[in-house]
Amino acid sequence: MKPKIITILGARPQFVKAAVLSRIIASHGEIDEIIVHTGQHYDANMSDVFFSEMDIPQPKYFLNINGLGHGAMTGQMLGKIEELILSEKPDAVVVFGDTNSTLAGALAAKKIGIKLIHIEAGLRSFNMSMPEEINRILTDRISDLLLCPTDTALENLNREGFAHFHTSIVKTGDIMLDAVRYYAEFSNSKAQVYPSLNLESGKFVLATIHRQENTDDIQNLKAIFEGLENINKEQQVILPLHPRTRKILENHNLKYNITLLDPVGYFDMLELLKNCSMVVTDSGGLQKEAFFNQKPVIIARTETEWVELVKHGYAKIVATNAVKMSEAFKFFNDKVLDYKLPLYGNEVGEKIYQEIWNLISNKA
Ligand code: UD1
Repeated sequence: MKPKIITILGARPQFVKAAVLSRIIASHGEIDEIIVHTGQHYDANMSDVFFSEMDIPQPKYFLNINGLGHGAMTGQMLGKIEELILSEKPDAVVVFGDTNSTLAGALAAKKIGIKLIHIEAGLRSFNMSMPEEINRILTDRISDLLLCPTDTALENLNREGFAHFHTSIVKTGDIMLDAVRYYAEFSNSKAQVYPSLNLESGKFVLATIHRQENTDDIQNLKAIFEGLENINKEQQVILPLHPRTRKILENHNLKYNITLLDPVGYFDMLELLKNCSMVVTDSGGLQKEAFFNQKPVIIARTETEWVELVKHGYAKIVATNAVKMSEAFKFFNDKVLDYKLPLYGNEVGEKIYQEIWNLISNKA
């Protein structure tokens, strides 16, 4: 019988990462992969579109847990995931990133003695008020195999004493690089929304805003949108809107001139990235996708986990300061940067696959 893994997914960025890994797992034919979708993201354009566009195998289990506070959401996921791990008896559980789905999957697996693999391990914002920071620290601490996207992530774990724990730590590079490289080949012919926008390449700014610390503090949200509104006077701003952000803008009756879209699928996102002049975002993943598409990025947060982007001049942190945001726009506008630095590895999905295979095929 083939070894079996359970992959826990729940939120949009996890679908993108899983698309790469699931394709490689299927191509090797040595491992049975069972996908569990917690239901954290459930709208068609936050979830289904990624499974269909990116050919992700359909989840065997859809838990439909969403719209709850952090505790209830994580707790309900934990109970359900535990049940199905007990019935499926996998050799390992794979979790991605830093969401509530990640933490729930990690706790469920580890508490019943199943090997735990964390992809995107070691990232730190050092901001303990972020739910994501809590999720990733706890997940890292209980994982058996920690797959780090960057040197900084590896150093973070070493500094926290992980070398003394019974765990394997490997720097693989960032799996999102493989997603961009693979899907960018055909996004042009598959994008549906982008062509209808009639945008001139290089003449618009792509923005996304959804972090809890920005959306749930109305002053922060207003300041960010004021900054975007200022940029929009110079160059059109296109913003595919996360449902959380849309709800809050509507509740406060906030209206802006920037172009708001519904969330877009991955092909449209890639076309927007390829053709924009720069990116303004509080997303983690989009910061690197900007780099992979050779675009500068303005970060609407007080810090970033992807510090190498800032260090090498590809990104500027402006938090919620509208003036700094405009200055960063002016700074990057028409600047030609050299994107040859290999900050995020190469053939990352294959390296991750080999590490997973080594762990589960050598099981004692
Ligand atoms: C989550 C992750 C974050 C990740 C982000 C990617 C946590 C703590 N946060 O944040 O790390 O960067 O996903 O997008 O897990 N909603 C909808 N439709 C959907 C999805 C969500 O209406 O398809 C609503 C939810 O009901 C909720 C709000 O949007 O009211 C926020 O969703 P939630 O899953 O709590 O967190 P995200 O902000 O998406």
